[in-house]
Amino acid sequence: MQLSNNTILITGGTSGIGLAFAEKFMAAGSKVIICGRREERLKALSEKHPELITRTCDVSKAEDRKALAEWVLQNHPEVNVLLNNAGVQLLTDMTTPVELNRVQNEIETNVVAPIHLTSLFAQHFVTKQQAAVINISSGLAFAPLAFMPVYCATKAAVHSLTLSLRHQLKNTSVKVFEVAPPAVDTELGHDRREDKTQSHGGMAIKDFIEEAMEALKNDVFEAPIGQAKGLHAKREVLFEQMNNQHQPHLPVNHEQ
Ligand SMILES: NC(=O)c1ccc[n+]([C@@H]2O[C@H](COP(=O)([O-])OP(=O)(O)OC[C@H]3O[C@@H](n4cnc5c(N)ncnc54)[C@H](OP(=O)(O)O)[C@@H]3O)[C@@H](O)[C@H]2O)c1
Repeated sequence: MQLSNNTILITGGTSGIGLAFAEKFMAAGSKVIICGRREERLKALSEKHPELITRTCDVSKAEDRKALAEWVLQNHPEVNVLLNNAGVQLLTDMTTPVELNRVQNEIETNVVAPIHLTSLFAQHFVTKQQAAVINISSGLAFAPLAFMPVYCATKAAVHSLTLSLRHQLKNTSVKVFEVAPPAVDTELGHDRREDKTQSHGGMAIKDFIEEAMEALKNDVFEAPIGQAKGLHAKREVLFEQMNNQHQPHLPVNHEQ
């Protein structure tokens, strides 16, 4: 995809991977809108980057997602890229009764939000000459870590949903990407670490983002990064075989 001249909505741009994408896309000459729950972070980031557009939004809430989409479409109708990045990673022991609202929040944030937001933008995107949906999954989509089973299942769902979305939009101008990060040193899981100075470990964000941007630039639609390559199984062949027998009959607006 072209990295310049886009207007990109990035969910979860207040830290880590989302913020790194925001800074790279701005440097490449795209307009960037980020959202997140932490207002003080959004304020500090707009002071640091006056061209950055920020919006408070909790993507785990349906009404916030609808309000975000309406506001973006009304105020930035040139929007042509959605980067579904916001995510949380929780530990879950399924052998004792789980705290259901935690589990539901993790699923709502990591899976329902990208489904809902994509659906709110898709018909707008198909009217654009160039558009993209970029979903952030994980190497753990392909091989789960058993102590964070719900998180890994949400990422497997993001992988699966991305395949289907790409198929549903295949006759349109909308490119559909999946970027699967390995462990990257961000704030992910920060809230469960007693020592807040402790690093998440993994790939340095600057190395991750270089490789991820290169993949987007080169239209690598399914892009496991760094060590996630090793976890990534080649499933495309079976997917093509199964889905070529069942063509979509969806109303798609082909207007350019
Ligand atoms: N770091 C890794 O090792 C790794 C590996 C594979 C995949 N990933 C994926 O990469 C994505 C980004 O994670 P990260 O590593 O950059 O972690 P991070 O530094 O913790 O960033 C997470 C971002 O998501 C936002 N967010 C979380 N819940 C939200 C909500 N309900 N509404 C709006 N925004 C929300 C956070 O913003 P607020 O807190 O301000 O709301 C923050 O900007 C996630 O989807 C994660 O699963 C990360």
